This record gives sequence, C-alpha cells and structure tokens, in this order.
Amino acid sequence: MAKQDPAKKRVAVLISGRGSNMAALIEAASARDYPAEIALVVSNRPDAFGLTRAREAGVATAVVDHKTFAEDRAAFERALDATLEAHRIDIVCLAGFMRLLTPWFVTRWNGRLLNIHPALLPQFKGLHTHRRALEAGVKRHGATVHFVATEMDSGPIIAQDWVAVRDDDTEETLAARVLELEHRIYPQALRLVAEGRENPLFAGGEKTPQ
Ligand code: GAR
Repeated sequence: MAKQDPAKKRVAVLISGRGSNMAALIEAASARDYPAEIALVVSNRPDAFGLTRAREAGVATAVVDHKTFAEDRAAFERALDATLEAHRIDIVCLAGFMRLLTPWFVTRWNGRLLNIHPALLPQFKGLHTHRRALEAGVKRHGATVHFVATEMDSGPIIAQDWVAVRDDDTEETLAARVLELEHRIYPQALRLVAEGRENPLFAGGEKTPQ
C-alpha cells in the first residue's frame, strides 16, 4: 500500500463511467507538493471503465451499486457515506457520477463535495450540454467546478474556463476541447479547496474575457 502523508487531504473520486477526470486528478495528486491524495475511487456501476484505470494506478476502489438498493435512494447514500467514512475521506469529487444526490448527502458533505459540469454554469445545467450549446449558438462554451448544493448543477463556483465555439464544431469536437479544460481545472480547483484557498471568483484559465 502506498505511504500516506498525514498533511494531505484524503479525497474520494466518485465515478460512473470512463473516469478521465478521475485519471487527471490521480495524475495531479501524484506530484509531491499536491495537497491532496486520491485515497479512494467509488463507482455506482460495477462495470465502469474508470475502476480499471484506478486499480492500474494503485488507487483503492469500491463499488456501491445503486441497482442493489432498488429505488431506496436513502439506503444507497447511507452505504456510500459509510464507505467514505471507512476510508476517512475529507473531500469528495464527483467526476461523471451520474446519480442525483439527496439533500441529506449534500448537507452532510457540505463544503467538502465538488462536482465538474461540462458547461459554463449557470448555463446548460443537466445533460447533453455540448449539443445544447451548439443549438443555442453560443460563442463560448466550457466547464465549471463547483461546490455541490442541493439544487442540481448549482452551488458556489470554484473554477471555470472556456473555449471558443467554432463554426464547424460538432458535439464530439466541442466535447473533446472542453474535456481538455476539465482535466486542467479540476486539479486546480481541488488544490484550492484542499489548501483552504478556494475563492468563488477564481477563474481557472489564463484568458481575459473580451
Ligand atoms: C465529464 O465531461 C463530466 O464533466 C460530465 O461527465 C463526463 C465524465 O467523463 N459530468 C456531467 O455531465 C455531470 N452532470 P469522465 O468519466 O471521462 O470524467
């Protein structure tokens, strides 16, 4: 087992799928001076590809399969919470975790629960953000890391960055460029939170809005 540094915050990354943001967080946290360690990856889906990536990176994994709890959301979240507590987790990062969390869980982890959303919140909450951005004809589209509040895709913003939308963009090309931003701003945002320096006005990018 990897040596633990008591000065570092213990982070759990919650996933449901491929886990590319999780991989970016693991990569960033491998730096000696990073203030957090990825102590656990939890998936609500046993077949999530991200679990394989996490294991290959030597990170502990757990599955809390929502299907085994049928429609009992409270029981699912209690099991999730118990898993996090068992691993002495300080901060939880949602990274493509596609389950809505109830106010009980959100309140319990208030100020220690982060999410990444593939849009410039408060624009395009919910699903299919890239398609909706193209349909709306916006000139800029991006990604947001925010503290989770009880209302979906809302809560204080920690980091945000954007790309220019091109005339020939498709959902896929736009998603790919936004994903690159995600991989950059999530580690930046987690660093700020782990160091207690988060500022809701922080903007992750170098660009000056025109
Ligand atoms: C990411 O684009 C993330 O922003 C999005 O799911 C993708 C997960 O990819 N999250 C949401 O849409 C949450 N509302 P990943 O598994 O490769 O990190």
